[in-house]
Amino acid sequence: MNFSINNIPSQKGKIAIITGANAGLGYENALRFLQKDIKVIMACRNETKAIIARDKLLSEVPNGQLEFMKLDLCELSSVRKFAQNYREKYEKLDYLINNAGIMVPPYHKTVDGFESQMAANYFGHFLLTSLLLDIMPDTAESRIVLLSSVAHRHGPKKIFFEDLNWENNYSSSKAYQQSKLACLMFANELDYRLRRAGKKILSVAAHPGATAGTELGKHLPKLLYCVIEYMLLPVISNDVSNGVLPQIMAALSPQARGGDYYGPQKLDEMKGEPGIARKLPYSENKQNLEQLWDISIKLTGADFGELV
Ligand SMILES: NC(=O)c1ccc[n+]([C@@H]2O[C@H](COP(=O)([O-])OP(=O)(O)OC[C@H]3O[C@@H](n4cnc5c(N)ncnc54)[C@H](OP(=O)(O)O)[C@@H]3O)[C@@H](O)[C@H]2O)c1
Repeated sequence: MNFSINNIPSQKGKIAIITGANAGLGYENALRFLQKDIKVIMACRNETKAIIARDKLLSEVPNGQLEFMKLDLCELSSVRKFAQNYREKYEKLDYLINNAGIMVPPYHKTVDGFESQMAANYFGHFLLTSLLLDIMPDTAESRIVLLSSVAHRHGPKKIFFEDLNWENNYSSSKAYQQSKLACLMFANELDYRLRRAGKKILSVAAHPGATAGTELGKHLPKLLYCVIEYMLLPVISNDVSNGVLPQIMAALSPQARGGDYYGPQKLDEMKGEPGIARKLPYSENKQNLEQLWDISIKLTGADFGELV
């Protein structure tokens, strides 16, 4: 599957929400969208960082249509407020890029009782998607993109349904791996339910391999961070401008199909050009998918309307 962003024509008239657009891959995604004339809503939690990023993006694409709207994925009330604000202002949404994420922070429970990685990476995006799906035009050009990771194939390789929020034996790396597995499973199940309801909107997942130059490693121990950032990543990773391509492919490729999963093709999917990526079989097991969907509905109060 060949993909070149240069072959994608102007998307004038389209509008996208990108979560975590103030840094790393989200910033780069915003830049690529602006260059294709897509209006971008930066859904970010930190206003100061978002405004600095917005100004930098506008200096790169002076005619870009760009707006910051506050969203903290770790608070369900903030997710609901964001969706309400968006819907009051805009009638439709073409691309929902569920990009934001955190990796291996110290244990923290959110106000809603979620472990913070499950909240920011998965539950927040699950609820956000449910609140915006009905204003997405029913066409295959409408895309919901979920960010997973090669990490989903490592560690527990399962969802700990009995202790989803790590009340016992918290492992920051296992919690990250689980949250990224949950994102991929959500993309798969959402695709299944969209098809079953006769919808044309596509749910597609992507991962950036190992991408250097983002802020994702900020919670790693200092020494480990330095070894990874300055010794390992320069050899095995993409830079951000390449790392972003799988999620751009998921959003803009005319060849994309619902349920596809894209990632880099070299070095066990750590770097290289984007293409079809490997999914853990667990992430496609119907029983697992339904169990995760049902518990996520229960815990977030999300309502997917006709996709139930
Ligand atoms: N970089 C990699 O090698 C790699 C590999 C596999 C998967 N990924 C995935 O790619 C995505 C982007 O990662 P990145 O490397 O670009 O990381 P990054 O540079 O740290 O960017 C993450 C973004 O998410 C935002 N965010 C975090 N928690 C949030 C919350 N509660 N509400 C709203 N926004 C929140 C951050 O906002 P603040 O600036 O306010 O913190 C930031 O804008 C993540 O989903 C990550 O899991 C990355």
